[in-house]
Amino acid sequence: MIDRRGFLTIAAATVAAGGLAACAKDNPAKNTGSKGGGKQITLGFSQVGSESGWRAANTQSVKEAAAAAGINLKFSDAQQKQENQISAIRSYIAQKVDVISFSPVVVTGWDTVLKEAKAAGIPVILTDRSVDTSDPSLYVTLVGSDFEVEGERAAHLLEKVLAGHTGPVKIAQLEGTTGAAPAIERAKGFAKVMHASHPDWKIVASQSGDFTRAGGKQVMAAFLQAHSDINVLFAHNDDMAIGAIQSIQAAGKTPGTDIKIVSIDGVHDGFVAMSKGQINAIAECNPLLGPQLMDAVKTVHAGKGSTLPRWIKTKESDYTADQAAAALPNRKY
Ligand code: AHR
Repeated sequence: MIDRRGFLTIAAATVAAGGLAACAKDNPAKNTGSKGGGKQITLGFSQVGSESGWRAANTQSVKEAAAAAGINLKFSDAQQKQENQISAIRSYIAQKVDVISFSPVVVTGWDTVLKEAKAAGIPVILTDRSVDTSDPSLYVTLVGSDFEVEGERAAHLLEKVLAGHTGPVKIAQLEGTTGAAPAIERAKGFAKVMHASHPDWKIVASQSGDFTRAGGKQVMAAFLQAHSDINVLFAHNDDMAIGAIQSIQAAGKTPGTDIKIVSIDGVHDGFVAMSKGQINAIAECNPLLGPQLMDAVKTVHAGKGSTLPRWIKTKESDYTADQAAAALPNRKY
């Protein structure tokens, strides 16, 4: 049964949907791109948060690239909360921006707001992270990394790190934010290589540290209490690995020696830890997505979104501790 409040909510939603539909009729642009023109492009961008060094570099890249491309950027930080991202997107729709871009904190739960953007004729470009949707018309393209491949690369780096090792391999996994694409896919890629080639590897503990240093430190301390024989840490990002290093040291162990560490990202502080031998290897995840994103925004705004690939992938490299000191001065983030 629908009560009065429920009825009013539905009525309001219907009026709003009608308004958006009318708006879409007036604006022939669909979600493959809006019409070009001489005026400055306005991009509404909803960032995940500021949880890591990677994110700080990504935010800087987006802001600098927008300025360089002459794009008017409206930026908001969702503080790792999906409801904040949904509000930001709705506000960009209300402001009638030309293009919306966001890095979705989690993969599910976006269809409703993406349909609202589509109904308003505002194209959406995903950046960094993907979404789960059964309707491919709800976004034009994704600019970002292949996280599953990053997980596979981390496992292959661990093979190198463990060369010559005999005995059990007891792995602790620090997962990224629960439900986020990089957490799901990095775990999947790593497990794929492990199950295919390493029956001797075992993940004895796995939990989210939310991609933060504090989370990595806290969860690693709990792992060590429950499993004193962990000899490998796979961290889904450098910041969690750096937090975990503190807990490993507090437990009287030497990070990088007693517990081998492989992580993902390749941020400056990760490279510093790697050059000290505390992290053994890093699979790079490039945060400098701004220039590719602005190119995609311009293409979409010119009405040529259908010419873009569905996924604009980022180029990345792998690093081991012996390469860290030489690579550090040239790192860009
Ligand atoms: O989505 C990319 C991931 O998000 C980075 O690897 C991590 O550091 C960040 O929080």
